This record gives sequence, structure tokens and C-alpha cells, in this order.
Amino acid sequence: MSNIIKLENVQKFYKVGKEQFHVLKSLSLEIEAGDFVMIMGKSGSGKTTLLNSLGFLDKFDDGKYLFNGEDVTNLNENQKSEFRNKNIGFIFQQFNLIETLDVYHNIELPLIYEGLLNKVDREKLVCEKLESVGLLDKLKNMPLQLSGGQQQRIAIARALVNSPSLIFADEPTGALDSETSNDIMELLKNLNEQGKTIIMVTHDNDLIKYATKVVKLKDGVVSMEV
Ligand SMILES: Nc1ncnc2c1ncn2[C@@H]1O[C@H](COP(=O)(O)OP(=O)(O)OP(=O)(O)O)[C@@H](O)[C@H]1O
Ligand SMILES: [Mg+2]
Repeated sequence: MSNIIKLENVQKFYKVGKEQFHVLKSLSLEIEAGDFVMIMGKSGSGKTTLLNSLGFLDKFDDGKYLFNGEDVTNLNENQKSEFRNKNIGFIFQQFNLIETLDVYHNIELPLIYEGLLNKVDREKLVCEKLESVGLLDKLKNMPLQLSGGQQQRIAIARALVNSPSLIFADEPTGALDSETSNDIMELLKNLNEQGKTIIMVTHDNDLIKYATKVVKLKDGVVSMEV
């Protein structure tokens, strides 16, 4: 069983007042370990909803979610947090760093939540990840003292610090110029080559070249898979 993720007929509704809005309509999808998946589709087609539900930041209303063959559809809140911490690193368009914490403590945060390592072991991991994104010299900077591209690298270091097998990225280059975007994409490509499975949402057709699989959403269903 090489599917890291398998969705069977998942449904997602949003309630707006008395109306129900059907966002994901009986959507099925298989993602293999080692894939670099690009999720594409028009604004409002449900890309973020899909990614957030896969990462338990949101939830599906129906259907089945298998992770490495195991049914994770009905995890309770504690199990979801644990699953997220262990398996997924998140990267966002607006970086989502904590502005009041310096770079070091931003990256350390997932390890604090996990609560398994002592200070010395945490420091080793944080510095290792900072070095891997080329920003070890910025460890005492505050996020707002860094450029957008640097902030995204810090966010990537934070996403990696728990050694997750999956990276979820929602328009990670959306707030960056094209040169900085390319740097970030090369970083993600390297991570994919090191074995991370990456699921990324993008609007940018130029980035398709990085993908091993493209999933196009239209009206809440997968309209095309390449
Ligand atoms: N919390 C919410 N409550 C109600 N409707 C929502 C909510 N979140 C999203 N929606 C609706 O669900 C649909 C899908 O939203 P989603 O954010 O997943 O789209 P998207 O494909 O990521 O779009 P974009 O490319 O603009 O980021 C949209 O029509 C949106 O208005
Ligand atoms: Mg979105």
C-alpha cells in the first residue's frame, strides 16, 4: 500500500445563515508517498478547504479519509492535534510567523507543543533546520526584520522541525516576487527529492513543472488529474 493519502467520496458543506453551501462534492483522491502534488483551480473552487480538511484544520462532513491505509476519518480533537504535529508541516501564503517571537523561538514552537525533547535537543534541531534553509545567522532576528522570502524560509524551517512526512503549502509563493518564488520552489523541490510528500495549492501555471501530479478542482470535484 503506497498511498499516503486516500480520500473516498468526501463531502464538505459550509453553513451560511440558513443556507448550506456544498464546497466539496463526493471528491475522491489518491496521493502516493513521494508525490509533489499541485492543487489548482479557480478562486473559490475549494482548494484551501481541501488542504485544511486534509490537515485537520477543518473537517470533512462525509466520506472516508485514509492515511497510510489507516482510517483517520473519525479522530477526536486530541488525536487530530497529535496527528498534525507528527505528520504534517504547514506553509502559508502570509508565512504566519508569530511576530512577537524571534526566529529561533518561532521554529522551536512545534517542538514545545510536542513536548518530547529537552532544551539542548530542541536547540540542535532548530539550528539544523535553520541552516538547511540558509538562515542560521538570523536566529535572533524578529520576523518583521526579514524579507518576505526569508520569512517564508523560516516558515519552512518551522514546518520541518518535527520531521513530518507531509508538507502542506497553501500558495507559498503567492506573496513573493518571481525570483524569490523560484528560490522557495527549489527549496521545496529539494525537500521532495529527500522524500517529503508535498501537497501545494497554487494559481501559478509556471509552477506546474515542479509537480509529479496535478489535481484540478472545479465546482467541488476533481475535474482533471495528470
Ligand atoms: N468558513 C466559511 N464559511 C462559509 N463559506 C466558506 C468558508 N470558507 C470558505 N467558504 C466558501 O467555500 C468556497 C471554497 O473556499 P476556499 O477557500 O476553499 O477556495 P479556494 O479554492 O482556496 O479559493 P482561493 O483561490 O481564492 O484561495 C468559497 O466559495 C468560499 O466562499
Ligand atoms: Mg485558497
